Amino acid sequence: MDREHFYATMNGEGTLDYELYLNTKKLLSCQKDFHNFCNGDELQFQVVHQIEELWMKLIGYTLLDIDDYLQQENTNRVLTLFRRVHIAQKLMIEQLALLETMSPKEYQEIRVGLGNGSGQESPGFRTLLKMHQPLWHSFKIHYLEKHGLTVEKIYNSEYKHSDAYVVAEALAEFDELFQKFRYHHLQLIQRTIGLGSKSLKGRSVDLLNEGLKTRFFPELWDIRHQMTDAWGSQYGVVRESIGGH
Ligand code: HEM
Repeated sequence: MDREHFYATMNGEGTLDYELYLNTKKLLSCQKDFHNFCNGDELQFQVVHQIEELWMKLIGYTLLDIDDYLQQENTNRVLTLFRRVHIAQKLMIEQLALLETMSPKEYQEIRVGLGNGSGQESPGFRTLLKMHQPLWHSFKIHYLEKHGLTVEKIYNSEYKHSDAYVVAEALAEFDELFQKFRYHHLQLIQRTIGLGSKSLKGRSVDLLNEGLKTRFFPELWDIRHQMTDAWGSQYGVVRESIGGH
């Protein structure tokens, strides 16, 4: 196959309606020129990062709409849009696996060209890290306080699988998938550069473990162990075997 022909024709003319609407000329020029890649893995490295940024753009934009619908208590809309967010989050996680097809040696070659860039500078990630606050505020005001409810009531003492409960579970799913992304990303780092090394900012990547411990909606996680402890105090923390011995 003629490489130069492929390189020359890949971006198209950019004049057909499909190309104009999707801005393919610009989109397909957002990567380094084919002749400037340091090795055969660098296109994949750039593309995966760029696509992840696009998913985060979509997730953040959708969360803005979810916040509006939370304030209107429009549960059907909230759930449909959360489904979109959760699918995009799962895609973000799955796509990390592509980078496992790159050898540690080839990543070191790419790394030379990254300056002191770090994923912590990702505009999408930094934005998403802040979006849980308004979401929680809207949920608390409109689904709980306005109806005299609490997290404890919707999960336990007044549990009836209510709108507030299913929305709370959608929030928890967003939280959980965000942490799953961090977990899989850490696995990817372990596979590529190892966990004992310093990042391009000079910090130990072990610091990323700290991020893994954070939760957007701690109240939604605490309720689970509070229920376990409360029920455990009734039926005994350490119990008899059901076999009766
Ligand atoms: C071989 C692939 C990758 C390696 C070796 C890698 C490595 C790292 C390292 C070492 C850090 C810590 C940076 C620091 O302490 O300043 C980091 C952070 C980060 N990276 Fe990656 N990364 C890879 C792929 C990706 C991809 C595909 C994304 C997609 C968005 C990404 C997003 C992030 C984010 C968001 C952070 C900040 C995480 C946090 O604060 O919890 N990384 N990465």
